[in-house]
Amino acid sequence: DQEKKYRMREAHRIVADLYHEVMLQTAAGDAGREYLEQRGIQESAMREFKLGYAPDQDRFTVDSLARRNFDLDEMVEAGLISIGRDGDYRDRFNGRVVFPISDRDGTIVGFSGRSIDGRDPKYVNTAETPLFNKSELLFGFAQARGAMRKNKQVVLVEGNLDVVRVAQAGIPYTVASLGTALTPVHAQNLGRIVDEVIVCYDGDKAGRAATLKALRLLEDVAVDCSVIRLPDGEDPDSFIGAQSEETFLRVIEQERISSLEFKSFYFRQGKNLRLEGERVRYIETMLEEIGRTSNPLLRDIYLGKLAEEFHLSKESLLSQVKPLQLQQA
Ligand code: UTP
Ligand code: MN
Ligand code: MN
Ligand code: MN
Ligand code: MN
Repeated sequence: DQEKKYRMREAHRIVADLYHEVMLQTAAGDAGREYLEQRGIQESAMREFKLGYAPDQDRFTVDSLARRNFDLDEMVEAGLISIGRDGDYRDRFNGRVVFPISDRDGTIVGFSGRSIDGRDPKYVNTAETPLFNKSELLFGFAQARGAMRKNKQVVLVEGNLDVVRVAQAGIPYTVASLGTALTPVHAQNLGRIVDEVIVCYDGDKAGRAATLKALRLLEDVAVDCSVIRLPDGEDPDSFIGAQSEETFLRVIEQERISSLEFKSFYFRQGKNLRLEGERVRYIETMLEEIGRTSNPLLRDIYLGKLAEEFHLSKESLLSQVKPLQLQQA
């Protein structure tokens, strides 16, 4: 009910403030602060995203909430604390750097906590709660909202740290889906605000597969997208560290490729296009992808490129696309 949700929001605000103050103002937060500094995060960004540190104690959060008369079972339901094996309340994010996750109005509804000492799992995230619906939330959305409206663009990355590092580099319109795949709701929410989604996922196998899925989803809701292909093994954060902020900005500005270009790269992987059979399969796959493109002009341009590359007539290719479009409708 509404009052319960109100209390849960209030508790999130209080806990986020506590973690933030612990990190920036107390010795107990030094480890978290040093971790973020060593990862290249500046204090201004720590403040902007209200990053914090949850002290490595079993009951820091539990006691803080109890002192303020919150019902602890309700706080378990909110995902702020948990119940340990001994049946007692205990902290969830202890010993971790915490990234508060807000809804689009900027109300904190969950946390993502990263370990700083190699302890597993690397991330502990808020699970589904009455406030926290992972398939609708994007990390950084509230911070990016104004800039997205102004620039009509959004850079979509995988991780929280990528968002903070890219924003710090000068691209405030950056968001991350929370470790899971992009959902249709995410795509729709972004599409309502921007004209172009720039997908900049990790340069590894998982990142490339996730890129393909994201492109299809964005195309399904008729959002224009482009892709940044990072070097193998790099993500936006590590790329900025290895190169520089300036280089990253230049890559975003100048090295975006179209959705079709990405798909062409993706579906060529491991294929020998000099063999007719593999070539035909590749062309069929690309035609299928072109059939998904809702913009008729773009579809025409893509078709022209494919025809040109394989010395085929556009007309014969077009006859292959049409049934697919009908299928989709
Ligand atoms: P990555 O696996 O790409 O993170 O996960 P990373 O780049 O190696 O590690 P950091 O963040 O630079 O230290 C990308 C995102 O997926 C989510 C997190 O939100 C993370 O930022 N994730 C990852 C989880 O939720 N759980 C995990 O165990 C791993
Ligand atoms: Mn990754
Ligand atoms: Mn990883
Ligand atoms: Mn990564
Ligand atoms: Mn990373």
